Amino acid sequence: MSQMAEQVRVYEVGPRDGLQNEAQPITLDAKLQYLELLADAGLREIEATSFVSPKAIPQLADADELMTRLVRRAGVRYPVLVPNRRGMQRAMEAGVEAVCVFTAASEPFTQHNIGMSIAESLEAFGEVLAPARQRGMWTRGYVSTAFGCPYQGEVGEAAVVGVARQLLDLGVDEVSIGDTIGVAGPRDVHRVVGALLDAGFGPRQLAMHFHDTRGTALANVSAALELGIRTFDASTGGTGGCPYAPGAAGNLATEDLVYLLEREGLEHGIDLEKLLVAAHFIADTLDRPLATKVGQAGGWDAGEVAAAAER
Ligand code: COA
Ligand code: ZN
Repeated sequence: MSQMAEQVRVYEVGPRDGLQNEAQPITLDAKLQYLELLADAGLREIEATSFVSPKAIPQLADADELMTRLVRRAGVRYPVLVPNRRGMQRAMEAGVEAVCVFTAASEPFTQHNIGMSIAESLEAFGEVLAPARQRGMWTRGYVSTAFGCPYQGEVGEAAVVGVARQLLDLGVDEVSIGDTIGVAGPRDVHRVVGALLDAGFGPRQLAMHFHDTRGTALANVSAALELGIRTFDASTGGTGGCPYAPGAAGNLATEDLVYLLEREGLEHGIDLEKLLVAAHFIADTLDRPLATKVGQAGGWDAGEVAAAAER
């Protein structure tokens, strides 16, 4: 009897983190089609957009219309970013069912990104999370710059644990720990995730959000898998970056993550061929070549190779 493969959650951030920093206008129709293709590929959690200030993130200024027009697929969750009461009002009017709040482990980044101190941000999130929980919404909290800050440099694990703890105390269902500028290596993952686990966090309360800015994201995923983490954020096509995090290019590509999970024998529920259709679609939409590893090489079906050799 074969053992049942272990489940990993792949949390897609392409439509939000992937597109938020793109300067060229992307039509609402293209965004909706991208969301369709991602659901077609088997993704069950797709972060769709942000209800932030349109001045802060002009690319996602169409969030209201996007979430109003989006045809929800059964079994798919479409979380959105919400920074404050105003955003929550808009999100509720657009029929949103899952929300994410976002702060960071370093003060200067939080100040640049949302114009608040970490403490002020946590206070503002009460006004988002209280109505969200009242309505039975799923909620997530982000801790950005958990491995390094573009304005401060190193970030200590105690700061990460402290902010993550406060988010959980506010009632979020999970906390996503972000390497916003892609500086971490596996040793850092052991240090930060180790500190979170030591502080009493369960592996299922945590997600990891790696950027592949310096090519270390998959090594970091492996390290997190060893520590029992089973939720990973990724962006199909490897798009991404934050306007307030200079040099934060490139989320871990979902196709690269899925290929790794495949070879690790972990169940993920995603069809790689269909995922590559979505990856090519967004690359074409942005008028650039698909630059991810698996996007270029494709998957690898050993059985098919052997069958071809026999023919
Ligand atoms: N949706 C739409 N408009 C909003 C808004 C929201 N959620 N929150 C604030 N605004 C508007 C206000 O109405 C005001 O508009 P006005 O200038 O026309 O009067 C303006 O934005 C400023 O509002 P204020 O409350 O002073 O906020 P701020 O300028 O200090 O900005 C945030 C605070 C959090 C709203 C803003 O920094 C933001 O949206 N940041 C998001 C950054 C982000 O998404 N980063 C990437 C993710 S990591
Ligand atoms: Zn990110």
